[in-house]
Amino acid sequence: MGETLIRKQYNEMADSYDKRWNTYITKTLSILKNWAEIAPETTVLDVGCGTGELELLLLRQNPQQVIIGVDISEKMLHVAQQKCHAYFHVSFYNVSVSELPFENNSFDIIVSASVFHYFDDSNAALKEIKRVLKPEGKVFILDWCKDYLSCQICDFILKLVDPAYKQCYTQKEFHRLLASAQFDIERAAKFRFNFVWGMMIVQAISQT
Ligand SMILES: C[S@@+](CC[C@H](N)C(=O)[O-])C[C@H]1O[C@@H](n2cnc3c(N)ncnc32)[C@H](O)[C@@H]1O
Repeated sequence: MGETLIRKQYNEMADSYDKRWNTYITKTLSILKNWAEIAPETTVLDVGCGTGELELLLLRQNPQQVIIGVDISEKMLHVAQQKCHAYFHVSFYNVSVSELPFENNSFDIIVSASVFHYFDDSNAALKEIKRVLKPEGKVFILDWCKDYLSCQICDFILKLVDPAYKQCYTQKEFHRLLASAQFDIERAAKFRFNFVWGMMIVQAISQT
């Protein structure tokens, strides 16, 4: 049910998404890119890649970067595919985080921006992410942070009016989720995105 609604919402929004959310995407994805400092030889998975803006950012820096983007909205992916068609090391899959069609230990880096608040089962998502992450790999997750009043209010309202929305987390809750999925946190931050909105970012590795 949740994924069907999300897919519908993002399919409807796909053509206008980049323009409508330009400021938000530009700022959040450049923060994620700067944090991750992705090395050229690494294989990257982007969970909930949307219209492929992070892929473009990474490819501008390294056109040979191997990147796989997954998303449940085929229309968002269509936009991503069009943007990245000239890059042969980039591919997109129309699948959910809950069933990633990849072997165990496939990726050096897994990133996800502004997606976790949609997941019905974030714990299952993290377990699937852990499965496809190489033992020495790193995960970078950026999302809204419920430590900020604006996000608390938005979380409350969205739960009432938007059936596709699931929940955002406080930093503590999110770190607990990561720990219960057997990740160790290497670095974390929360920050005001503009005057009101609050975000958090975390870098984690698999527990051995
Ligand atoms: C707010 S957009 C973020 C897109 C992109 N990461 C960005 O920062 O521009 C959220 C995206 O997550 C995708 N999504 C939501 N639930 C998902 C799931 N279970 N598996 C994969 N993608 C999902 C949506 O289809 C949508 O494209």
